[in-house]
Amino acid sequence: MQKEMSLIFEGGAPGRRAFVLPPADVPEEPLERLIPAEHLRQEELSLPEQAEVDVVRHYTNLSRRNFAVDVGFYPLGSCTMKYNPKVNEMAASLPGFAKVHPYQPEETVQGALELMYNLGQYLCRIAGLNHVSLQPAAGAHGELTGLLLIKAYHMDRGEDEQRREVIIPDSAHGTNPASAAMCGYKVVTVRSDERGGMDLAELRKVAGPKTAALMLTNPNTLGLFDENITEIAAIVHEAGGLLYYDGANANAVVGIAKPGDMGFDVVHFNLHKTFSTPHGGGGPGAGPVCVCDKLAPFLPVPVVVAAEEGRYKLDYDRPKSIGQVKSFYGNFGVLVRAYAYIRALGASGLREVAETAVLHANYLMRKLAPYFDLPYDRPCKHEFVLSGKRQKSRGVRTLDMAKRLLDYGFHAPTVYFPLIVDEAIMIEPTETESKETLDAFAAAMIAIADEAEKDPELVKSAPLTTVVKRLDETRAARQLDLRWRPAPAAKSG
Ligand SMILES: Cc1ncc(COP(=O)(O)O)c(C=O)c1O
Repeated sequence: MQKEMSLIFEGGAPGRRAFVLPPADVPEEPLERLIPAEHLRQEELSLPEQAEVDVVRHYTNLSRRNFAVDVGFYPLGSCTMKYNPKVNEMAASLPGFAKVHPYQPEETVQGALELMYNLGQYLCRIAGLNHVSLQPAAGAHGELTGLLLIKAYHMDRGEDEQRREVIIPDSAHGTNPASAAMCGYKVVTVRSDERGGMDLAELRKVAGPKTAALMLTNPNTLGLFDENITEIAAIVHEAGGLLYYDGANANAVVGIAKPGDMGFDVVHFNLHKTFSTPHGGGGPGAGPVCVCDKLAPFLPVPVVVAAEEGRYKLDYDRPKSIGQVKSFYGNFGVLVRAYAYIRALGASGLREVAETAVLHANYLMRKLAPYFDLPYDRPCKHEFVLSGKRQKSRGVRTLDMAKRLLDYGFHAPTVYFPLIVDEAIMIEPTETESKETLDAFAAAMIAIADEAEKDPELVKSAPLTTVVKRLDETRAARQLDLRWRPAPAAKSG
């Protein structure tokens, strides 16, 4: 068993340092001359005093307790936890990219601007739309930006007061209604039909003069492609609304189908998912939005544009712009990774990504279907959703099986989402896994289904092999306590 770890704030000794620099051989500038007195800290901070070796061991041991894509298979549905090639990290850490300052004059950062311009062009081609902003910092931020653009468009036409509703299917990711509500819209939910697509009759009933937009991800969170998409687009457009494409599931269609061709007016991509940046720990992401011609005037400033003689500029002169949605130009490091990824694969490589992701998902779905319930039994795209209903009748919940997977060395799939599937288990294998890994995961799932039948208590007590056992997840989410306080022993000592 691994021993309990103390926090980096605990332990250490006064005067212990991680490293000691040689004394400066130039006169030191007093702090007061560099920083105005009112901004200087009055009291010393109580910082940990630790030796370098202890700091390194502390963080290395912490990382060994974590599960990551670089540790094992991570089929977290809707999150596209694909392996991220390390060459992208190398590109992003090149000093010419990593060390540029956002306030540097344009003439000195032409390479960075060219990269952003070209990345924008690639994304536009993939989306099937003509204009782009790279600023949004995540998928949800792209949604908010896209909806602000739609709102600006309706305002410009004098229709904003009338168009107060955003239509969203009941299978949508929670960020969709949240973004619409943040933008001040009323959310109108449309239920899914028996094939898992949008119910057209319901859509016809709710689409009308109040409709500002429809938000949709296609394939949706069931991993199913909505075959009626052109009809859906026609209904919404005829009603005077616009179509928003949540591109979180773009891994299923990248290089094959363009949302612009399906009728979408705004598209966000999760660069950290489809275009490969390590994510999942709350680190930087990027959610660029691509838009059709009529939304282009409202894009956030600045827009990177091609100027004369192969030069690039930042264009702030856009009077109808919704303004800036993120400081400077977005999360530049993520943009570099996505650019490196797209350049490495090219158009045919991107197509192969989607084809392989879809093949892997269908392979696993068919292997697991006999052991679990499959509420929508038709070919899926990049992910599929099982139901743990059968196991629930034995007293074993989907959460128990998710925890048990950790004992088998796999990260759990997404659970209890989408909300329309009872005891949902949403599996997204991605294209970067080998057949051996997919088979090993299927074997673990089948073994757990068998345990649920023969030894339900075992599954309910999982995980048994991890450092931390079952957590009270509701309490952890509702009573968040992120403040460190010294342990009683440290206090008295
Ligand atoms: C379908 C869908 N839409 C939107 C989002 C939001 O993306 P982000 O986490 O980058 O804000 C996610 C994230 O998991 C998603 O799965």
